[in-house]
Formats: sequence, structure tokens, C-alpha cells
Amino acid sequence: MNVLVVGGGGREHALAWKLAQSPKVQMVYVAPGNGGTAQDKRLKNLPITDIAELRNWALANKIALTVVGPEGPLAAGLVDDFRAHGLRVFGPTQAGAQLESSKAFSKAFMKRHGIPTADYGVFSDAQSAHSYVSQKGAPIVIKADGLAAGKGVVVAMTVQDAHDAIDFVLGGATTGSRVVIEEFLQGEEASFIVMCDGKHALPLASSQDHKRLQNGDQGPNTGGMGAYSPAPVVTPAVHARAMREVILPTLRGMEQDGIPFTGFLYAGLMIDAQGQIKTLEFNCRMGDPETQPILMRLKSDLLDVLLAATDALGLDRFDAIQLQWDRRTALGVVMASAGYPASPRLGDAIHGVPAEAADAVVFHAGTRLADGQLVTSGGRVLCVTVLGDNARLAQHRAYDHAQGIAFDGMQLRTDIGFRAIKN
Ligand code: AMP
Ligand code: GLY
Repeated sequence: MNVLVVGGGGREHALAWKLAQSPKVQMVYVAPGNGGTAQDKRLKNLPITDIAELRNWALANKIALTVVGPEGPLAAGLVDDFRAHGLRVFGPTQAGAQLESSKAFSKAFMKRHGIPTADYGVFSDAQSAHSYVSQKGAPIVIKADGLAAGKGVVVAMTVQDAHDAIDFVLGGATTGSRVVIEEFLQGEEASFIVMCDGKHALPLASSQDHKRLQNGDQGPNTGGMGAYSPAPVVTPAVHARAMREVILPTLRGMEQDGIPFTGFLYAGLMIDAQGQIKTLEFNCRMGDPETQPILMRLKSDLLDVLLAATDALGLDRFDAIQLQWDRRTALGVVMASAGYPASPRLGDAIHGVPAEAADAVVFHAGTRLADGQLVTSGGRVLCVTVLGDNARLAQHRAYDHAQGIAFDGMQLRTDIGFRAIKN
């Protein structure tokens, strides 16, 4: 079979890498892909991003299955379009993707269906937003409505910061922008990702990422500077609770609302000291960089799972599948470009990327080949991902594997996994 992965980041490199291991897969096409997928003989980059063009190409090339990595094409309706043309595709429809693309939609959805989340208000006029903040006080969280690639959230520790964030979101030229203001939650975060076929949910291994740029979770928010799986905070009790209180009611709620959810569903959870959980956000895709360590631990054939999820195997219960996981810890360290996240510098030559070794892979994100030379082409450049017998050994091994990699202005954290190690 020929399969297609849509996207060009680290998540998509990992999805393509994993799919290429299936004995049923002949070729994995990645659109548009990156420097890493370009170098891998089992993968082929396809320089197409337009949805109609991609669909015509998939039809002409008999693509058996398409998996969509990023939220952009999902929110733009790629899945609706592919399905309308009879193509098998794994991902949510445009309506389903609203769980991520609109904070206002997902908050109202959670409220309507009794899914635990922070108290909140939604505002389109600055004055009411300001008075809401004055009334609630700080710390408080200000979120721009709409896709913001993880950068639309300000955790305001002071009332002044909150007022500034409101002005930033609502003060600009774009009319119709909205801000979600919510209660500040305390606890430990985890990423809980499941695969959905519209009715059933199959949970993947738990994971945690590090969203801040600098060691000790300091500095600005990023898309994620590293991740690991499993997340020790997701105990069997927390796992059961997440399924019962968040995932299953979400699937039922979406079905009731006439939007059966298909695809990866990512619940960002805040877990407090008592093991109570609240939903911070939904994403309608796998996490990046969580995907890299999760897929490194997945022993089952991903193609089979995706075929089952898209109802190709005639299974009665998709969630009856038993996924096989490597018992070890997988950990990924992101190497980011100079200036990330504010203004990533592009075009720096990348040196010393080690070849794939047993249980150690460098997944590419913002890279491309320029006349045979690997150069940076985005904020997050590489994710060095390894397996180790425990979190400490995985951390050690990841930094060891990353040793020789160099490019001008390279930024990386040196403490990825510290929470798991402390546990
Ligand atoms: P979001 O895109 O909604 O997940 O927000 C990005 C990050 O902001 C989260 O991963 C949290 O670290 C933080 N955050 C979001 N909402 C809250 C909240 N209500 N309380 C505390 N931190 C939050
Ligand atoms: N790493 C967080 C995300 O993918 O949204």
C-alpha cells in the first residue's frame, strides 16, 4: 500500500517513520515533509500543500490511507474533502477540529457536556474583559480564540499582565476576535491522547511535554521543547478517570451534537495533588513533540491500527485492539533555532546529525536540504528521541546521542524529563 502523511514537522516525520516499518506499506509520501523525510529512502516528499491538489494527487496515485498531522489542514477541511472524493483518511472533519481551532467552542462544549475544565468567560469587547479580570483578580489565564500554534495563551501572574494581554488580543485591527479568560489551575500537566473512530476511543501511551523555552520551565511558552512517555503522573487511577470523565463524555457529546469525532484527540490535562483532573485544552491531532516518544514506544503496526480506526477491517469494536507498548521510557529533546519562539532564524547549516541507531532516532522538524546541505527552516529543528530503561537513563542517552549536533544559535533545554526523574 502507498500511504500519505500530511505535514512537515517532527510529528509527521515520526508518523512516516513508524508507518514505513509496516510490512504492508510500500511507500510513505510526506506532504510537504522536511529535510529528514527527504533523506530517508523509505519516504518521499511531495511538494504539495493545497488541499484540492493533494486530493487529486492522492486519487491519481491510489493512496490507500492518508493521515493528517497538523491542525491547519484539519481546520481547513482536508478530511471532509478527501472523504467526499472517496479517499480513506484519518483525522477529524472541519467541524470536529473546532475542539482545537476555537477555544470558545471547546469551552462551551465542555460546559454543555459536563466535562471538567476551568471556569471561564468569553469576551469580544475589551471593556467587559477588563472588568471581568478586575473582578476575578490574578493569577488568571488569557487565551486568544482561534489557532495560535500554542502561542495564544498568557498565564498572567498579575492583574496588569492580564489587562495587557487583553489589549494585545482585542486591541488589534482584526474585528471579531474573541478572548477566553479562565481560572488559573494548579497541578501537573499531562498529555492524554486517544484515537477515535467516531464512537470508540483507543488510548495511546501517556506523555508529558515541556512547553517553556528554558530549564526549570522558565521563559516563554513554545510549541514544546521536549517530551517523554510514559508520564508517571498518569497513574492507572488517573488514566481511568481521564477516560471516564473527559474522553468518553467528549466522544458521546460530539456524537450527540452531530459531529462524530474521528482522528487523534489530545486532551491536555491538569492533574492536582488529589488526582482530580481538569481539561486545559483539546487538540484534534497528536502532540508535537509528544508523538516522537509515543511512537518510539509503540510496538504494534500503526498502519493496522489506522485501518481499523477508519473502519477498513470490519472490526466491531475498534477500541478492542490491544496496543503493544515498549515498557521502557522514551524521551525526546528538541533542538530549536536561534530566535525561537519569537522570530526563528532560518538557513543555518546543521552539522553532526547522527545516523539512526537502535532505539535512537533524530526526528527532523524545521529542516530542509539546500543543495545537499541540511539547513534550519523553522523554529523547532530536530527532536532527538531515544528509549531507556527508565527516565533517567533515557535522558542521559538522549543528550549523549545529541552530542555532536551543531548549528549557529542552537537552543536546547538540558533538563528534559526532570519531573519523571523526580517521581
Ligand atoms: P493551552 O493552549 O490552553 O493548553 O495553554 C497552553 C499552556 O498554558 C498550558 O499547557 C498550560 O501550561 C497553560 N495554561 C493554560 N490554561 C491554564 C489554566 N487555566 N491554568 C493554568 N495554566 C494554564
Ligand atoms: N506539545 C503540545 C502540543 O502539541 O500542542
